[in-house]
Amino acid sequence: MSIRNRAKYGAEAFGEFAGNLPQPFPRTMGANCLTYLKEVVASGLQCDMVGRFEAAFAKEMGVKHCIGTPGCTAALNILTAALDMQPGDEIIVSPITDYGTVMGLLKENFIPVFPDTEPGTPLISARTIAPHISTRTRAILAVHITGSICDMDPIRALGKKRGLTVIEDVCQAAFGTYKGRLAGTLGDVAAFSFDSEKTLGSDVGGCAITNDDALAEQIRFIGQSRGGQMVKGLGRVHAANGYALRMTQSTAAITLAQLEIIRPAVAHIDRMIRLITDKLADIPGIIPLSIPDYMEVYSCWMAGFRIDPHAFQCDAESFARQVADAGLTGAGLGKYYLMPAALPFLTDKAEKRIFPFSKPPASYTYHYGADTCPNAHNFLTHFIRWTTFCEKYQPEHCDRVAQIVAAVADQNRV
Ligand SMILES: Cc1ncc(COP(=O)(O)O)c(C=O)c1O
Repeated sequence: MSIRNRAKYGAEAFGEFAGNLPQPFPRTMGANCLTYLKEVVASGLQCDMVGRFEAAFAKEMGVKHCIGTPGCTAALNILTAALDMQPGDEIIVSPITDYGTVMGLLKENFIPVFPDTEPGTPLISARTIAPHISTRTRAILAVHITGSICDMDPIRALGKKRGLTVIEDVCQAAFGTYKGRLAGTLGDVAAFSFDSEKTLGSDVGGCAITNDDALAEQIRFIGQSRGGQMVKGLGRVHAANGYALRMTQSTAAITLAQLEIIRPAVAHIDRMIRLITDKLADIPGIIPLSIPDYMEVYSCWMAGFRIDPHAFQCDAESFARQVADAGLTGAGLGKYYLMPAALPFLTDKAEKRIFPFSKPPASYTYHYGADTCPNAHNFLTHFIRWTTFCEKYQPEHCDRVAQIVAAVADQNRV
């Protein structure tokens, strides 16, 4: 058997990083972490820590329902499973995202359709989504990537007009705001991640939030009660092929304590990422992520910039390696985020018309590849991200980032 170089996650993925810029690990932990964990143990596992976390997070978001899960991948899996959808139905999904965004809907045999991003941005818009709506489209899944929030009001209006559920993936923009409203409250339902490197970093964990009572109930029924219904005189009847994807009590304890310290941390992140953005914008040939006017709080755990390919002799890969060697730890390309090109199994299934790409249930022939989303492809070809940006940055670290990038830029100018 060949030994694979398996992907690493959480603190393990950051193990080899060093240097004089702050690293996310060890994470800053909320003062009440141990108190809440002890409560779980002292109660003999009877205390409802998950319920407490869910109520606190729902209150913080200003929504009616929060459903704690083992992660965002799980949250998106069970919330899409809870929608009124059949195999072969389509969900329009941002093309630049993490695999966790699409994994669940693929497991449900729904078909992802990737519209392009707006030029020069990693974000989809109502304009790029609209031409992809078919008779089989049931939902739009908008991802707020690297803290950049999609222009959600037009997307919501489009969803409403065409009878589509609007879902937000808020893993990379937790507590960011859009026109005075929190990311995650801008569609019908949203999913969050509390994985250890995320803004609200717990051990693992995630949740779904919504104001829709019926959808919240269905998410719990399908996603957590395994589709099991109690029938008098019999016991459980499994009315649906469900899941048991619940948040654990210990995860809830840590996440609740982390929630108590999140607002000042995010306010600090916002200040630091704006400072870095301004400094990078001053370097010829460097294009920081633009901050749309509708965003007040810019919350991210991954930072990045693009290089103008005409300004430098080297490509983005070489540029990324040089900034990483010069101390910008975690710097690399984000090419693997181009979902239409990053999932060979999906391309293969679609090409060979393997279920659900067979007809029926699919209604037409699908093709996946970088050519389907030229703006997204172009964006990621020149985009360099670093995953070690965190709330520990101070202004001197922002200076250091800009110095590193400026020095590499100067060494490679045409
Ligand atoms: C945009 C996005 N969606 C989904 C996920 C998956 O989250 P989780 O690891 O909590 O399942 C991630 C993780 O990095 C992400 O960045």
